[in-house]
Amino acid sequence: MSEDASPRKELAAVKGTRDILPGEVEKWQALERLARETFESYGYRELRAPIFEVTELFEKGTGSTSDIVTKEMYTFTDKGGRSLTLRPEYTPSVVRAIVEHRLDLQPEPMRYYYMGPMFRYDKPQKGRYRQFHQVDIEVFGEKDAALDAEIIEMADALLRKLGVNGTETLVNSVGCRACRPAYSAALREAAGKRRSELCPDCQRKAETNPLRIFDCKVEACRAVAAAFPLIQDFLCAECKDHFAKLLGLLALYRLPYHVDPRLVRGLDYYTKTTFEIVSSHLGAQNAILGGGRYDDMMKDFGGPDICGIGFAMGIERALAAAEIALPARRALYLAALGEEAGKAGLELARFFRASGVECLVEFKDRGMKAHFGRANKLKAAWVLIVGEDELKKGRFGLKDMATGGQVDGTREELLEFLRKN
Ligand code: HAM
Repeated sequence: MSEDASPRKELAAVKGTRDILPGEVEKWQALERLARETFESYGYRELRAPIFEVTELFEKGTGSTSDIVTKEMYTFTDKGGRSLTLRPEYTPSVVRAIVEHRLDLQPEPMRYYYMGPMFRYDKPQKGRYRQFHQVDIEVFGEKDAALDAEIIEMADALLRKLGVNGTETLVNSVGCRACRPAYSAALREAAGKRRSELCPDCQRKAETNPLRIFDCKVEACRAVAAAFPLIQDFLCAECKDHFAKLLGLLALYRLPYHVDPRLVRGLDYYTKTTFEIVSSHLGAQNAILGGGRYDDMMKDFGGPDICGIGFAMGIERALAAAEIALPARRALYLAALGEEAGKAGLELARFFRASGVECLVEFKDRGMKAHFGRANKLKAAWVLIVGEDELKKGRFGLKDMATGGQVDGTREELLEFLRKN
């Protein structure tokens, strides 16, 4: 610490990263708990993969023409000379884990969820960080569009539990390997005609993967892209049927949606369904969650030909839009008077803590008044008074800090009382 007690600038948290402090962290815990409960009620199991992977996994999975791979990865060479990358997203890691552990031998569909940090070297702004956190779900082995609808319904259910309102669900189909080449060719042709109006990045994308032009944030490029042909006119019969079934089921769930034919999402792996849920409360970075189907990734990784679908929700963004009511903390402050009572107090604290009561013990020898001052500062709900007299009788006074009321009883009676209150 420097003299003015602010941290030295060079030791401050890295740009685009944040500390999540007590006071805020309780909301994270509540979100994580609600996500877990929701996913498990749909049959999902948690799968935890490492934070870094070989770089090639993301080049192959996320895609070599995506902005994430071309511009945003935290890639480094380790002491063994391997190129490693801090995961920018979770999907390729799950697919790798399934292939590696032959989880595909389990009954289908396989449903997994995960929560943790992701890393992207993007320009930090409100709602966009370099270390951010995702809640992610992935399902494998179910081709039916009923699953696409179910995961959108599940995402919606989670957002309702989080008290997120004012959202819009955007859906699209980006076709498959059978129908997309014709669409890409049409886009390439359209982009070629207006090449000079596109930014240098999009001029390059027009050659490598014209679909990626839709990801560009430059206003002039967006205006050009608005006149591009639409994917819906190029979908093959299978993709068309799949999309129609999805929309029918969303209607059945009474989930309002908006078809956005330019929703290609920034990742190269999507096939058929893509979707996002956006919030009107979040400003520029308004996507709370996004996902889609990726039926070729596992096969492309050298694994079995098993289709996949999933979505990831940004925790920071979900919390910015959420209304989570937290239960008040109700801590018990143990006020021991004198040395003997101090020792007995340690055992009493152990008793209450074993039953799940949050118990604050003061190690310093203090008088009654100082104890109450301290309990007030720590915002304790109750003060348990332990003096020589109390010890002799085995009965203690418990004071309610909000009302000033007091009850007396044995430790068992007081525990019962705390449980009821
Ligand atoms: P994504 O759209 O790149 O998809 O990210 C999903 C969500 O993560 C976004 O909607 C947003 O809420 C949050 N997010 C992304 N980047 C940032 C950032 N820099 N700062 C804060 N929040 C951010 C994926 O990652 C895919 N893996 C989703 C998926 C799963 N598709 C299939 N399965």
